[in-house]
Parts: sequence; structure tokens; C-alpha cells
Amino acid sequence: MKLMQFFSSSLLLLCCALLFNGGISIVNGNLITDTCGKIVAKDPNVELQFCIKTLESDPTSHGSKDLQALGESTINLIKAKATGIISTIEKLNSSTTDPKVQKALQDCEETYSDALDDIGEAYGSFVNFDYGSANIKLSATLDDASTCQGSFKDVGAQFPLVDETKYFSEIVDIGLAITNMFP
Ligand SMILES: *[C@@H]1O[C@H](CO)[C@@H](O)[C@H](O)[C@H]1NC(C)=O
Repeated sequence: MKLMQFFSSSLLLLCCALLFNGGISIVNGNLITDTCGKIVAKDPNVELQFCIKTLESDPTSHGSKDLQALGESTINLIKAKATGIISTIEKLNSSTTDPKVQKALQDCEETYSDALDDIGEAYGSFVNFDYGSANIKLSATLDDASTCQGSFKDVGAQFPLVDETKYFSEIVDIGLAITNMFP
């Protein structure tokens, strides 16, 4: 009898744990999928799969309980991407001796440092529920990204950050769309 009780209570616990876990991931799945669906409907620059994959793959955004938390973690993802681009710029710089490319990379490093400042300010505004200012600061990072691209055009060198820029712009678009979802 004791053994039966043990088994049935363990079974109950296991069921509860499964339900709880399942419940949580269903809620998050809906938040990310719903949000991405709404974004894609309004912004053709954002791909649905990219949006879902990017937000699902990050543990913080994956665990977001509401749109506010999802927006905050999206801005953190944007920051991580900008930081990654700066590392890439430094790597590219150490593997070139072409002064034109070095000049363009220098300019890019400066524009992405500016972008990092803007992203920091966007985060500060967003957590203070100032979505308009967050939107303006995030928009500015798109200008930074195209300024960097322009630096290569100016010196007549091939732009080496095509994929990074596309990824960066797309995730900034997601962040912008989230700031627009608040009244
Ligand atoms: C690129 O390398 C040059 C030569 O080492 C250096 O003077 C310059 O500061 C570097 N620029 C960046 C963006 O790291």
C-alpha cells in the first residue's frame, strides 16, 4: 500500500511538472509567434522564420513573459550584434594592409560605437516605458549601419559586412516594430 502511495504521488508530481513546463513554453511560443506574425504583417523587411528563430534561440527572449520583457531582450540582442560587428571589424582590420580598407573599417568602428551608445539609450528609454524615444534611438542605429556601408563606397572598396548588416538591420526592425506596438 505504501509503495502504491509513493508511486501515485510521484506520478502526480511528474504530471504537474510536465503540465507546468508545457504551459510555460506554450505561453512563450505564443508570445514570440504572435509578435513575429504581427511584425511581419506590417514590415515586409522582416522574415517570419528569422524573427521566430532569433527570438526563440536566445534564452532571455525565449523566457519573456510579456511584450515588455520581449522588447527589452530584443534590444539586448541588438546590442550583442553590434558588439559582434565591432569584433568582426577589428578582425578584418588585422588581416588587411590596404589603407583604404583600414580607413573604412576605422569609420565603421566609430559608427558602430555610436550605435552602441544609441542602443544603450534606447534600452534606458524602453525600460522607462518611453517607447517614442526608444524608437528614435533604434532608428538612428540603422543610419549608423548604412553610414558604415557608405564608408566602403567612399573609398571604392568592397563592403565586407553584407550578412552582418542584413542581420543587424533585420533585428533592429524587429525592435522598432515592438516599440510601435505600445500606445
Ligand atoms: C586598424 O589597424 C591599424 C594598423 O594596425 C590601426 O592603426 C587602426 O587603429 C586599426 N583600426 C581599427 C578600427 O581597429
